[in-house]
Amino acid sequence: MKTMLITGASSGIGEAAARRAVEAGYRVGLAARRKEKLDGLVQELGPDNAMSVGCDVTDFASQQKAVAAVIERFGGLDALFANAGVGSSGSGTAGGDPEEWRQMVLTNVLGVMYSVKAAHEAIAGAKGHILITSSGAGRKVIPGSVYGATKWAMSGYGANLREEMREKGVKVTLIEPGMVDTPFFDEPKPGALVADDIARAVVYALSQPENVLAGEIWVEPLNR
Ligand SMILES: NC(=O)c1ccc[n+]([C@@H]2O[C@H](COP(=O)([O-])OP(=O)(O)OC[C@H]3O[C@@H](n4cnc5c(N)ncnc54)[C@H](OP(=O)(O)O)[C@@H]3O)[C@@H](O)[C@H]2O)c1
Repeated sequence: MKTMLITGASSGIGEAAARRAVEAGYRVGLAARRKEKLDGLVQELGPDNAMSVGCDVTDFASQQKAVAAVIERFGGLDALFANAGVGSSGSGTAGGDPEEWRQMVLTNVLGVMYSVKAAHEAIAGAKGHILITSSGAGRKVIPGSVYGATKWAMSGYGANLREEMREKGVKVTLIEPGMVDTPFFDEPKPGALVADDIARAVVYALSQPENVLAGEIWVEPLNR
C-alpha cells in the first residue's frame, strides 16, 4: 500500500484529496495547523488509513517532523501533495497589505519548497510522486494579483523541480485549479469548481502508468 502526505488537509482541496486518495488505496498523512480538524477526518477515513500531524508549513522543522511521523507510522512515503496555501484580502500592489504578502510568500512559496525538501529523499527512495497545488492564477495574468505571483513562482519551481527529479524516477505534477468553492473564500462561489473536482485530478495524476507523467493539470469551470 502506498502512502501520501497531504499539506493543507484540514479543509477544501486537501481534505477532498485525502478522501479520494484513500478510496484509491493510499494511506494518508494529514498535515495542517488545525489538528482537531485533521483528527475528525482521521475518524472518518479510519485510523488504519489516515493519521494526523499538526504542522505549520512555514516552519521547516515542523515539516521535517511531519514527514518523520508519517514514515514512522506507515513505514515509508511514496507521494507528497504540497497543497497548503493562503490568499489575501487586499488588491494589487497599491491596495495590498505587506504583512499579507509576507504570509502568502512564506506559505505558498517557501512552504512548498520546505515540504519538498523535507520529503524528497523518502520519495526518491520509493520512485514516487510530488504534486504541488499551483493555480490557474499561476498560468494567466490577473491584473495586480500578488497571490497570482506566488503561484507563478510555483509554475517555475514545479517545472524546474520536475527536471531535477526526473532522473531520480520521481514524477512532479503541478495541479492548477481555477476557482474552487472552498473556505479559501469568505463567501460561497456558485458556479465554481468543487474541491472534489481537483481531488479527482490528483488521483488521475497518481494513477498513471509508470512511464506516464502528467506534468500539469489545469482544471477550470466550463462557465466562468
Ligand atoms: N479555492 C480556489 O479557488 C483555489 C484555486 C487555485 C488554487 N488554490 C490553492 O489550493 C490550495 C488549497 O486551497 P483551498 O481552496 O482548499 O483553501 P482552504 O480550504 O482555505 O484550505 C487551505 C489549507 O491550507 C492550510 N494552511 C494554510 N496555511 C498553512 C500553514 N502555515 N501551515 C499548514 N497548513 C496551512 C489550511 O489549514 P490550517 O488553517 O488548518 O493550517 C487549509 O487546510 C491552496 O494552495 C490555494 O492557493 C485554490
